[in-house]
Formats: sequence, C-alpha cells, structure tokens
Amino acid sequence: MTKYFSDSDEKTLAMGMALAQSLLDGTVVALVGDLGCGKTVISRGIARGLGITEPVTSPTFTVAQEYRRPDGKYLYHLDMYRISDENAALAFGIDEFLFQPNAITLVEWPEQIGGLLDSPKLKTIRFEHVAEGQRSIEFLNFPQDALRKAALAAGLEEEQE
Ligand SMILES: Nc1ncnc2c1ncn2[C@@H]1O[C@H](COP(=O)(O)OP(=O)(O)OP(=O)(O)O)[C@@H](O)[C@H]1O
Ligand SMILES: [Mg+2]
Repeated sequence: MTKYFSDSDEKTLAMGMALAQSLLDGTVVALVGDLGCGKTVISRGIARGLGITEPVTSPTFTVAQEYRRPDGKYLYHLDMYRISDENAALAFGIDEFLFQPNAITLVEWPEQIGGLLDSPKLKTIRFEHVAEGQRSIEFLNFPQDALRKAALAAGLEEEQE
C-alpha cells in the first residue's frame, strides 16, 4: 500500500519529519498536486526531520532555496511553478540542484521539467485534495517498511486502493 490519508497539516508535517530519515543523498522527491494541497507543508516536515531549523517557505519566486543540514550536506527545495519548460530550467542552472551526491532535493511542480527527473533515484509524492483539511497522499518508489513506519509515527491511515 502506498496511499495514505491525512486529516491535518500537523499530520502531513509529521509524515515529512518521519520520512526524512529514509531519504538517501542523491534522491530527488517530486511533489505533485494542486495549489494548496500540502507540498510545502511536507517539505517543511522533511526539512525538520533533517535537522534544519530555519523557516521553510514556498520558493515560488526564488525558484530554488538551499538549506544546509547539520551534517554539512544540503536540502534543496525547488519550485518549478514559474519555470515554463526544461530549457528554461536548464538556463536557470537546475542541474546543479538535481541528483547531487551531497544533497536531497524536493521539487514542487515537477511536471514542468519531467524529462530532467527521469532516474531510479526519483521518488514521487502525489497529493489529492479530498475536503477541507483532508488530503490523500500517495508515495511512489519509497521502501514499504520505511513508509509504513513513518505513517504509523505520523498518525496517517492507510487507504485501500
Ligand atoms: N491534511 C493536510 N495536509 C497538508 N496541508 C493541509 C492539510 N489540511 C489543510 N492543509 C492546509 O493546506 C495548505 C497547504 O499549503 P502548502 O503551502 O503546503 O501548499 P502547496 O501544495 O505547497 O501549494 P503551492 O502549489 O501554492 O506551493 C496549508 O494552508 C495547510 O494548512
Ligand atoms: Mg508550495
């Protein structure tokens, strides 16, 4: 099972925190879903889980935000919302932020640069807005045991598929 249900932003945040430990350097996590579905909330959780204490906000205008982790490595938080296509992303210098051996990378609005993300190191989190305060969250290419453990810690319920 890869689909879970979150009924609060706190739970989505806690899921990010709990999952952070299972992410290896070199991983890119694509965060898919509509405006306001929780992509930045889970990113904040992952950042917290990696020991980052700075405020984490949507990098919609800056495109890329770099956070240094306590272990000296990096978390890159990218937002492709304002990037029109892959060429624009490459012109921005996106490859410096993707699949780097010393970083974990989170990408909001990854659809814009789909072709640049094709790798076995890509993981995907797909959000669906169910109702006010409720989100269905699907995790693709995550190890099942880590997923289940994180969901249990965060209080997310499994959804039947
Ligand atoms: N179960 C939930 N999980 C996550 N966020 C939730 C949940 N319920 C309500 N929310 C609210 O939904 C909003 C999610 O905002 P967030 O900034 O994470 O969206 P986003 O997907 O990053 O959008 P954007 O595409 O604009 O960057 C927040 O206001 C949050 O409080
Ligand atoms: Mg966002």
